[in-house]
Amino acid sequence: MKELTPEQIQENWKQLIRLVEDNFTGERLEKLLKMYDYFEERMCMAPASGKEHFHNAHAGGYVEHVIHVTTSALKIKDVWEQSGATINFTDEELVFAALHHDLGKVGDLADDYYTPNDSDWHRKNQGLIYKHNPNLQFMTVTDRALFLLQHFGIVLSDNEYIGLRLTDGLYEEANKSYYIGYSPDRALRSNIAYILHQADMMATHIEYDFWKRGDHAAVIAKTEEVKVKTKQSTAANHAFKELFGE
Ligand SMILES: [Fe+2]
Repeated sequence: MKELTPEQIQENWKQLIRLVEDNFTGERLEKLLKMYDYFEERMCMAPASGKEHFHNAHAGGYVEHVIHVTTSALKIKDVWEQSGATINFTDEELVFAALHHDLGKVGDLADDYYTPNDSDWHRKNQGLIYKHNPNLQFMTVTDRALFLLQHFGIVLSDNEYIGLRLTDGLYEEANKSYYIGYSPDRALRSNIAYILHQADMMATHIEYDFWKRGDHAAVIAKTEEVKVKTKQSTAANHAFKELFGE
């Protein structure tokens, strides 16, 4: 199973807060920081999914996923723009929707959305690492994201609302009436939702590839190897100094 080191989890958290501080200002920034402060402990550890063959079903997976989606969304927007697309929304709006599209996965105000699966058999044989917390009122992840944002008094522009609401594309049945409009009046008025959906899909599939190839396990093994070598050489240096002086 993919695992992040405590240092990687901490580094990802710092990167997430940097993204918030760099992209928002004034009262909205204040309210966002208040919300991130409220959820820090739980958000840091939250996974991005419950099944290991989905994506980022590990501690710290949520924050890592949100960073991937945000950075990918900015890159994908550039590709659309360079290819001639109309970009009638701001980077702030794109980043806001990307950062919060999965906010509901953190849980409600009191409890986590995902809880570790206590069945070893299901973890080992079916990769069901986390299960949905039965104590929570049922809401879709998107509905809960919007509920939490309004709880903290964080106002969204209509581009942000539509972008966040439609990030799951047609994987979410409820999005059909937005994406498949039979009259021109109903067509989406900006490309923000398509770009966010592409970013989310790309990040999710790449996270899956990382898991499948075990890249992260290799990085951790390498870090551990370096740590052991550093320890060994420190111990050797120590022994040398004791024997032969400084
Ligand atoms: Fe996502």
